[in-house]
Amino acid sequence: MAHCAIARNGETMGLRFITRSARVGSDGSSNVKKTRVLGMRELTQVVEMVGVDRLLDALFERLHSRLAEHDTDVTTTIDRAGFHYAKPDLGLIEWMPTMQVGSRVAIKTVGYHPSNPTQRGLPSVLATTSLYDTVDGRLVALVESTFLTALRTGTASAIATDILAKPGPITLGIIGCGAQAVTQLHAISRIRDIERAIVFDTSCEVAASFTSRVAFLKVPIEVVGPDAIGRLVGTVDVLSTCTSVAPDAGPVVPHVKTQPWLHINAVGADFAGKIELPIALLRTSLVCPDVLSQCLLEGEAQQLEAADLGPELPELVRRRTHFEEFRSASTVFDSTGWALEDLVSAELLLELAEQHGIGIEIALQATSQDAHDPYAFLLNDNA
Ligand SMILES: NC(=O)c1ccc[n+]([C@@H]2O[C@H](COP(=O)([O-])OP(=O)(O)OC[C@H]3O[C@@H](n4cnc5c(N)ncnc54)[C@H](O)[C@@H]3O)[C@@H](O)[C@H]2O)c1
Repeated sequence: MAHCAIARNGETMGLRFITRSARVGSDGSSNVKKTRVLGMRELTQVVEMVGVDRLLDALFERLHSRLAEHDTDVTTTIDRAGFHYAKPDLGLIEWMPTMQVGSRVAIKTVGYHPSNPTQRGLPSVLATTSLYDTVDGRLVALVESTFLTALRTGTASAIATDILAKPGPITLGIIGCGAQAVTQLHAISRIRDIERAIVFDTSCEVAASFTSRVAFLKVPIEVVGPDAIGRLVGTVDVLSTCTSVAPDAGPVVPHVKTQPWLHINAVGADFAGKIELPIALLRTSLVCPDVLSQCLLEGEAQQLEAADLGPELPELVRRRTHFEEFRSASTVFDSTGWALEDLVSAELLLELAEQHGIGIEIALQATSQDAHDPYAFLLNDNA
């Protein structure tokens, strides 16, 4: 019996404390199951091996096919939930769960703290994904997901843009030049030739630094001030809005005459009360939510009724030939961020890491030999 082997080393404040060394199986092997951790160092190694262009392209392919074949009996997502607070600053921490039936659960935890960049030198969005095996409940992997969130958000916009934006070279507008803006430009540049980008941010420093952050893409960038935002919106073929505008402070896009074929990726509105687009523009556009229920609560769709909305992202992809007809019309992708995108991106990174032998394996969870003894990991066979 396991408890016979307990060596009691003392009593402190009425609490028993004991020391035992890890027990091994009868064949001498440890049955410790390990968790693969992909932190910043491992992520860097994967991206250096694969290349960020190839990673984006692989994610585009993977996400596109997962959306096309999306079946709620196979992949179940439940609405994200979390804590929203105003102290010490406006922020939230949310969890976004998805289940691949019969194999895996992914839960991304994401924090949004728009004061982070200026007050703490941290990204506004910070995220981590945990992947669990649904056979035994084991934590298979822990994956850094701040980079992956930016990557999958850019990719989702690229998928919508590919279907709904005018074919051929485009002028891209970006309003809000922070972290998400980088992957909006990069991911869209993988599916359309971007002749130039016109960008605006309320922070002159962020707008100015955007040019150097995306210099590797070799897209001519025109940074404009607030007086030219109407010209920006009126000129471009595709617009990505990714601002940290405060709840109830929007819209950030003025209601001006736009190109009749303007496609907008509305990325920033993902919080109750937060909007970026004027309602008049929404009313004259085909508005495609990524997730209907979420967009009605947090996206641009807060300003509309469910009946006013177009297809969700999976249907948009599945019936892409039909929706390509809207390339000459005004369209909006209402992007609030979907847990399925997080599952797909975390799995892709994990797969690439495994292929290249990258990742730290740690014995994070109790997987002792005696399933009925929570103290068994303390056993000392010599005791
Ligand atoms: N849809 C999604 O899947 C998804 C994913 C990640 C982030 N987001 C959202 O996207 C937004 C941007 O995220 P980020 O990581 O780039 O944040 P960030 O803090 O890096 O950048 C946001 C930028 O918006 C600028 N800004 C704020 N108000 C503005 C306005 N009225 N006009 C122009 N610029 C303005 C800020 O100065 C800042 O530079 C956030 O609201 C975030 O919640 C959405």
